[in-house]
Amino acid sequence: MPWNERQRAMLREMGLRVWQPPELSVPAVGPGPAGLTLPAPGAPAGQAPSVPVLPAAAPVADPSVASADWPALRAAVAACRACRLCEGRKQTVFGVGHAQAHWMIVGEAPGAQEDEQGEPFVGAAGQLLDAMLRALDLSRAGEGEPARRAFIANTLKCRPPGNRNPQPDEMARCEPFLVRQIQLVRPRLILAMGRFAVQALLRTDEPVGRLRGRVHRYQGVPLVVTYHPAYLLRNLPDKARAWEDLCLAADVMERGAGTPG
Ligand code: URA
Repeated sequence: MPWNERQRAMLREMGLRVWQPPELSVPAVGPGPAGLTLPAPGAPAGQAPSVPVLPAAAPVADPSVASADWPALRAAVAACRACRLCEGRKQTVFGVGHAQAHWMIVGEAPGAQEDEQGEPFVGAAGQLLDAMLRALDLSRAGEGEPARRAFIANTLKCRPPGNRNPQPDEMARCEPFLVRQIQLVRPRLILAMGRFAVQALLRTDEPVGRLRGRVHRYQGVPLVVTYHPAYLLRNLPDKARAWEDLCLAADVMERGAGTPG
């Protein structure tokens, strides 16, 4: 992607090198499981994958979520009382962006500011995320050209108390909402940020550092793993790696690998 001068200036400010197209670490990323790089659940580590990693069905309070349209899905999230997190929330945080965005960004869970405002990534981590999106000429705006838009969602729609880590049962109960959001958006690429997004989407406990740098797949959609922006705020040296991940994602998009088959 040819960076314009504004983007180059931003990258320099972030202390990041200007990207040269990397070699993809997978031979092909066309539709189907060809680009899959993860072992199937239960397969021994290091064994070549032979089947796609598909999400298991998760328990959900309202089974109609699986076929909900946008308004019904929003209403279901807002009314959800499937786990204990509903007790402490100010409001649910559904997600934001273009309904047909080509990019889908998946984070972890709302924090205090997101709980207050009802929008994901509005705090410090969100500012960094927005800067990274801007550098790729992307935005979370709900209108405009879908190719330049990102839909941002979390694995959990309610804030865990004290910003503690999501618990497995909370993730399982919330998962159908994210699954349905991805089905409705039909993104060309998913960016999974941080370990909980990775766990939810790829069904693996492998650390982010071992999963980044290559193209995975979720339900046939190319998926790139990167660090969570909140982690990057505390670990500045990994910002450069995150930038490389974004460049890999942009490269996948440029090559049209995310084009729906
Ligand atoms: N961190 C996340 O993962 N999501 C948010 O919405 C805010 C912070």
